[in-house]
Amino acid sequence: MSEFYKCSICGKIVKVIAEGKGQLVCCNQPMDVISTFKSADEVLDFAIEKEEEARLFYLEWAEKLESKALSEEFIRFAGEENKHKEKLQRVKSGSIFQPAARQVTDLKIVDYLVDITPTPEMDYQEALIVAMRREKASFKLYNDLAAMAQDDRLRDTFLALAQEEAKHKLRLETEYEKEIYSEN
Ligand SMILES: [Fe+2]
Ligand SMILES: [Fe+2]
Repeated sequence: MSEFYKCSICGKIVKVIAEGKGQLVCCNQPMDVISTFKSADEVLDFAIEKEEEARLFYLEWAEKLESKALSEEFIRFAGEENKHKEKLQRVKSGSIFQPAARQVTDLKIVDYLVDITPTPEMDYQEALIVAMRREKASFKLYNDLAAMAQDDRLRDTFLALAQEEAKHKLRLETEYEKEIYSEN
C-alpha cells in the first residue's frame, strides 16, 4: 500500500507513488507519515476524521461570515459533510451502501487561485476560495483512497464520495463566478 504524508502546518497530503531516499518537506518542515494503512477500518477512520474536520470548518465559518447567504450555504455543506461521515460509518459497520457516482464537471478555477489563510474578516470571495481549496483537497484525498483501496466496495464508496466533493467544489465555483461577473 502507498504511504501518505501530511504537512502539520498547511494540511497538504501527499502520496508516495515510488519509494526514494529523500525526506519530504512542506512549509519548511519534515512531513509526517499519516498512513501505511493496514486495514480498511483504518482508512475509513481516517476519512471519517476528515469529514468531521470539514463539518466543523463549515460550522465555524458559518458563524463568522458576514454574508448571510454564504453562511447558510456553509451550514448546508456542514450537513452534507456529516452525511458523508455517516456513510463511511455505515460502510465501516458493514451495512450496504449503494454509491451514486456521476461525473461532475470540473471548472478548474481553483487550480489558479492563490492561497488565502482563513481570517474572520474574510470577504465573500475569500471565504469561497478557502472552501473551494478544502473541497479540492477532499476530492483528491478520496481519489487517492480509492486508488489504494483493496476492496471493490470500498473503492466505489471513495469514488462516490470524491464525486460528492467535486459537486461541492462546483457549487462553490459557480457561486464564485456569479460573484465575479456581478462585479463587472
Ligand atoms: Fe465530505
Ligand atoms: Fe465537501
